Amino acid sequence: MKRALITGVTGQDGSYLSELLLSKGYEVHGIVRRASTFNRDRIDHLALDPALHDRFVLHYGDMADGSSLRRVMETVAPDEVYNLAAQSHVRVSFDQPEYTADIVATGTLRLLEAVREHIQRGGRQVRFYQAGSSEMFGAANPPQSEATLFHPRSPYAVSKLAAHWHAVNHREAYGMFVANGLLFNHESPRRGESFVTRKITLAVGRIAAGKQQQLALGNLDARRDWGFAGDYVDAMWRMLQADQPDDYVVATGESHSVREFVELAFDHVKLDWRKHVTFDERYTRPSEVDHLLGDPTKVRTKLGWAPKVSFPQLVQMMVEADLEIARRG
Ligand code: NAP
Ligand code: GDD
Repeated sequence: MKRALITGVTGQDGSYLSELLLSKGYEVHGIVRRASTFNRDRIDHLALDPALHDRFVLHYGDMADGSSLRRVMETVAPDEVYNLAAQSHVRVSFDQPEYTADIVATGTLRLLEAVREHIQRGGRQVRFYQAGSSEMFGAANPPQSEATLFHPRSPYAVSKLAAHWHAVNHREAYGMFVANGLLFNHESPRRGESFVTRKITLAVGRIAAGKQQQLALGNLDARRDWGFAGDYVDAMWRMLQADQPDDYVVATGESHSVREFVELAFDHVKLDWRKHVTFDERYTRPSEVDHLLGDPTKVRTKLGWAPKVSFPQLVQMMVEADLEIARRG
């Protein structure tokens, strides 16, 4: 039985990846940070399942605390490490740039070093997945592929780029099996509520249920290549099963504007979005990323990965889930 360690296990991707690895027979260990409120909603169905008691195990740790990362590495001795933990909100990274750099960039270095020391001590191989982001391409012209030059536009993107190069450097300097995923935006009903897609579908559910009237948004012209998170965690796993470590763009190859997402989501409940959406400058960014559109040729040809959920299916899935929440709440 393979053992995996996931940082960011309580996040959107951590929850889908845990389900995927458990379905493949893995023993899954996750790092959770202490909070004054419960932050395990997305994984409670796994953590509280008696049948998974021995196969889904949580450990306290923090990307800011190298000692906790080293301790968990020694305790778990994983075959695969998936580094998903991050202060992952681009807008927030302008308000908390140093914290973002510490968790996203230096935190990744702390974890890479913990893994390197573990390998040196035990002589066993450990494969490492680094959650890179299409934000690293930033202002680069679309479509973006593995060959595109990075041009990050936020403290988050700069920090992810530093993490990316730490990962590449550990691969080259120490011969570690490290793969970087350059993942374009991926969403789901479990998406954090302040990212634009979920913010829209939550509001659509509440407006349709008569519980809200207005939705304030920022830039509607930005274009993103949106896929389904459940599909993207499969690409992460495939990267660590390959013969050689490498870096891969993961995307659908299709982009849409925020306005198109809004239109489709409101259309789904037969409402006119123009009557409900207002503009609020607070949701704009000091430097915006205008257009992300990935070229997934390499991941398709080398790893056999392709997205299963289309853009309209994704919008529908998220609106229906949030309609259900609004009706219940
Ligand atoms: P998410 O929902 O925001 O989850 C982030 C996870 O990181 C949460 O489990 C969070 O824990 C944890 N975390 C934050 N700070 C931490 C710290 N100091 N120590 C330990 N854990 C910490 O993000 P996601 O959408 O699942 O994305 C997963 C990863 O992929 C992130 O690195 C993100 O930057 C990257 N990424 C995401 C996308 C996307 O479109 N979703 C695209 C490209 C790359 P709490 O639950 O306690 O907050
Ligand atoms: N969050 C948010 N809130 N974004 C808005 C809003 C709003 O009210 N109004 C317009 N937008 C625009 C943003 O300006 C941006 O251009 C776009 O919607 C998408 O914003 P987010 O959903 O916050 O995602 P992101 O693209 O900035 O970042 C996400 O994707 C990255 C991969 O490209 C995050 O998941 C990152 O962690 C990830 O790396």
